[in-house]
Amino acid sequence: MRVLVTGGAGYIGSHAVLELLEAGHQVVVLDNLCNGSAEALTRVESLAGKPLAFCQGDVRDRALLDALFADHAIEAVMHFAGLKAVGESVERPLAYYDNNVHGTLVLCQAMAAAGVYRLVFSSSATVYGAGAPVPYVETLPRGTTANPYGTSKAMVETLLEDLQVADPRWSVVLLRYFNPIGAHPSGRIGEDPRGIPNNLMPFISQVAVGRREALEIFGSDYPTRDGTCERDYLHVVDLAQGHLLALERAGSPGVHVYNLGSGRACSVLKMVETFQRVTGRAVAYRFASRRAGDLPAFWADAGKAERELGWKARRGLDEMVADTWRWQSANPEGY
Ligand code: NAD
Ligand code: WQD
Repeated sequence: MRVLVTGGAGYIGSHAVLELLEAGHQVVVLDNLCNGSAEALTRVESLAGKPLAFCQGDVRDRALLDALFADHAIEAVMHFAGLKAVGESVERPLAYYDNNVHGTLVLCQAMAAAGVYRLVFSSSATVYGAGAPVPYVETLPRGTTANPYGTSKAMVETLLEDLQVADPRWSVVLLRYFNPIGAHPSGRIGEDPRGIPNNLMPFISQVAVGRREALEIFGSDYPTRDGTCERDYLHVVDLAQGHLLALERAGSPGVHVYNLGSGRACSVLKMVETFQRVTGRAVAYRFASRRAGDLPAFWADAGKAERELGWKARRGLDEMVADTWRWQSANPEGY
């Protein structure tokens, strides 16, 4: 299949592009490189031993999208492009709604004009909102999200559902990711955040490699087993492989919603301990106050993806950590 991957130069997108190429698909990447890297794509090509087409540009650029659909006979789209920093979304809500919501709207308009109705969208477990019972299951309603980033994901889900009702030719898969971490086992591609990492795993690995002094653990008095927050971490390669299965599912009309998570919760302290054990590196940390908006614990009911897609998170925590460290230690400053 000829697949347009928006945001394909980013963390998750680059891993998905590699899986697509290895499975024999042809890939066109559209990325404005605001948080991605062309070097990631060069490495993906060398890992796959196959070329891809790359267009540096913005998903909100309708004329550019029209040209891409016309030139490449695209059959399906994986839509990763967007902004994802929760804290920044509180400071710059308009930038988040513009990029994430308006960007998706322009993409859908261009898809419809080109007669392309297969879409896989990067949604997030954040759409369940605060107060949803755990584990999160897809039949729960979307909840009240805690920040503009989360709201933008919920708005896009609604937009896509409305679109599919209006035109049943659409086949939309909403993939609700839990906490993706890890890197390709080659150590050649991985997560390369700009500036100070917001997320736990890149912060830990930057402490271990000597780029940062110590991890701050946000909160030690949560009602969890060890007092630190619990999350459902999954390996980015498992996540990327889930997209391939979802792409096939996107052949049947409708809106298909799947949690992509491991179904298991891991605390911040357990992650630090696992990292130290698996890598043999010390990770300095100190406890700090809670971070606004954090929930104590959530994880996926991942049964639907297994039943309907045959997808399961196969790689465990030790492998997630080992692969993160291979990437980080081989690329201490990122790409
Ligand atoms: P990322 O920032 O590494 O990748 C996003 C890519 O999109 C970047 O390469 C960026 O340059 C590009 N981009 C952003 N805006 C664009 C635009 N307007 N036009 C073209 N390209 C644009 O992030 P990621 O972690 O790979 O996340 C990919 C998607 O998955 C995002 O939509 C994100 O919200 C979603 N998601 C991520 C997580 C996570 O924990 N990483 C969890 C749930 C959902
Ligand atoms: C995990 C745990 C922190 C950093 C976010 C988004 C979500 C999704 C994934 C998508 C929490 C703790 C973290 C640090 C810490 N995003 N922590 N010290 O918050 O579960 O999810 O990323 O695009 O929408 O909200 O992930 O990695 O930020 O945090 O103690 O320096 O680690 O408090 O308990 P989170 P995270």
